[in-house]
Amino acid sequence: MAVSEAREPDPGAAPAALGYRLARATLLDLRAIYRLEQVIFPYDAYTYLDLLLLFLWPGTRNLKIVAPDGSLAGFVSAGPGLARRRGWIITLGVAPEHQRRGLGRWLLASAEQRLARPEIRLTVRISNAPAIALYHQMGYSVVERKPGYYRNGETGLVMERRIRPTGETR
Ligand SMILES: CC(C)(COP(=O)(O)OP(=O)(O)OC[C@H]1O[C@@H](n2cnc3c(N)ncnc32)[C@H](O)[C@@H]1OP(=O)(O)O)[C@@H](O)C(=O)NCCC(=O)NCCS
Repeated sequence: MAVSEAREPDPGAAPAALGYRLARATLLDLRAIYRLEQVIFPYDAYTYLDLLLLFLWPGTRNLKIVAPDGSLAGFVSAGPGLARRRGWIITLGVAPEHQRRGLGRWLLASAEQRLARPEIRLTVRISNAPAIALYHQMGYSVVERKPGYYRNGETGLVMERRIRPTGETR
């Protein structure tokens, strides 16, 4: 049918076929998310307090992917920005043993959908080639460079995706 042909491919189809499941993350997941952050962000993992705020802050969307064995495979948190048109991806991560299976793409697309804002932004380390490749693939481009943004002095890249009401990017 013409309608389904016009839609973007479902980013969850392939991981779901492997047994992964997307769900809303809750405070019950806090410990597992904290552990995941420790592994994937060795220099600036969020503290328990940071993570707690993600769950308490109004409008924040927190999603997880559960692996077939029930463990936490990935997490994304996204929230509205001060500008009403804009949403931000606050943190995104996939456990190393589950990477390169489309989970990052699935989490990002799902967070964007739930934010329902025409502009989505995020900040990424300039050295983080895997994440930058993911964001480019998802239609993001660099809109700002922030020298010294990270604690170790590394430059942050602000990347943005503009989403038309139909879901297309420009
Ligand atoms: C970035 C991250 C979330 C990607 O998650 P993932 O589940 O492995 O990504 P996906 O399998 O959905 O990959 C989607 C696309 O991203 C790109 N990509 C992902 N990992 C990549 C890598 N290691 N090298 C090159 N490109 C990569 C590819 O274009 C890939 O598409 P393809 O597999 O069809 O080639 C994951 O590597 C991660 O958690 N890293 C540590 C935490 C982090 O850096 N988070 C982002 C902070 S801004």
